[in-house]
Amino acid sequence: MPSDINRRFHLAVRPTNLPGDAHFRIETAPIPKPDTGEVLVRVLIAALSPWQGQRLKDFENYTAPFEIGELIDCDVLGQVVESKTGERQPGDLVTGRLGWQEYAIAKPENLLPATRDFDETLWLTALSSPGLTAYCAMEMFGRPMPGQTLVVTSAAGSVGSYAVQLGKLAGMKVVGIAGGPEKCAVVTGQLGADACLDHRVPDLASRLRETCPEGVHLFFDTVGGWIGDAVFEGLAKFAKVLIVGRTISNNSERPDLDPVNMRMLWAREASIQCFSRYSYPENWARAREHMMTLCRDGKIKAIDNLIDGFERTPSALHDMLAGKYTGKVMVRYAEAQ
Ligand SMILES: NC(=O)c1ccc[n+]([C@@H]2O[C@H](COP(=O)([O-])OP(=O)(O)OC[C@H]3O[C@@H](n4cnc5c(N)ncnc54)[C@H](OP(=O)(O)O)[C@@H]3O)[C@@H](O)[C@H]2O)c1
Repeated sequence: MPSDINRRFHLAVRPTNLPGDAHFRIETAPIPKPDTGEVLVRVLIAALSPWQGQRLKDFENYTAPFEIGELIDCDVLGQVVESKTGERQPGDLVTGRLGWQEYAIAKPENLLPATRDFDETLWLTALSSPGLTAYCAMEMFGRPMPGQTLVVTSAAGSVGSYAVQLGKLAGMKVVGIAGGPEKCAVVTGQLGADACLDHRVPDLASRLRETCPEGVHLFFDTVGGWIGDAVFEGLAKFAKVLIVGRTISNNSERPDLDPVNMRMLWAREASIQCFSRYSYPENWARAREHMMTLCRDGKIKAIDNLIDGFERTPSALHDMLAGKYTGKVMVRYAEAQ
């Protein structure tokens, strides 16, 4: 039975390394009322992402830090409870960036409709930021070539899992890098990669050279740090490095020390393309359409984890950043009515 209280997670203290319960505080207030032109949305599922971890710290990259006391932002799937606009009706499922709260006021232009012909979670995975990021980055800048070799870091992760599958669909040899044998088994067994290297086993750079004697033509990197530096050792001549994220450095105490291994980029005359999907909003609708078709045709799999309970959001973020989960991590706040 829903209460008339809204709970919201706010940043209390900045973490130095990984965040946890102690860094957040719950604020309570009556469920807000929409004004004319607004809707009240009940949050059903909140999506967790490493960028939330990086925004807890006081450094800037492609997103600005959260202020102390600020509501923690994230993409959610929600259901309209009350509408003061003709554009959305009570009962409609929507997605939007509404944050770690049980209810939110939103304007219709900031929400996207979600239909019931896909699983609820797909609206936060393949058809949302992770799928669209991988699709746009690969299509616009990766330009995958059949027969060439693609390496993907955090290959069992949210964005990485789609990069692996899109590379395979384009006819590439795909080698994933992931933490642990279980994740590697998912990357080869479920996502279809040709090989997957466990970064917890020593000598990543030499194992990569053995797996890819032809050299790495395209490197889709979401973690950077020492793993990115190790992959640089195996680049082919004129390789392309597509930088999509820096999870390792963002989670470290010294995000400014990244990357280290510029020598091999120079030696292989590689080019670096940095990518943020936020620079290309005009491409999202088309990317979503393509991802919908791939999902309907059974060509793309979403690997995800749904954790139950609003209170567990901070610990789920901690566990995700610590590498405990395979695929996208989401927290269920309520069931759709
Ligand atoms: N450019 C854009 O438009 C855009 C959009 C979305 C996301 N991103 C960025 O892309 C990155 C990935 O996002 P995501 O949502 O797909 O997350 P994700 O890869 O699912 O993130 C969690 C995974 O990161 C890996 N990881 C975390 N710390 C690590 C460490 N110290 N060493 C090695 N691996 C570590 C772990 O996988 P293993 O256990 O396999 O190591 C963990 O399971 C993030 O940095 C995010 O900010 C960019």
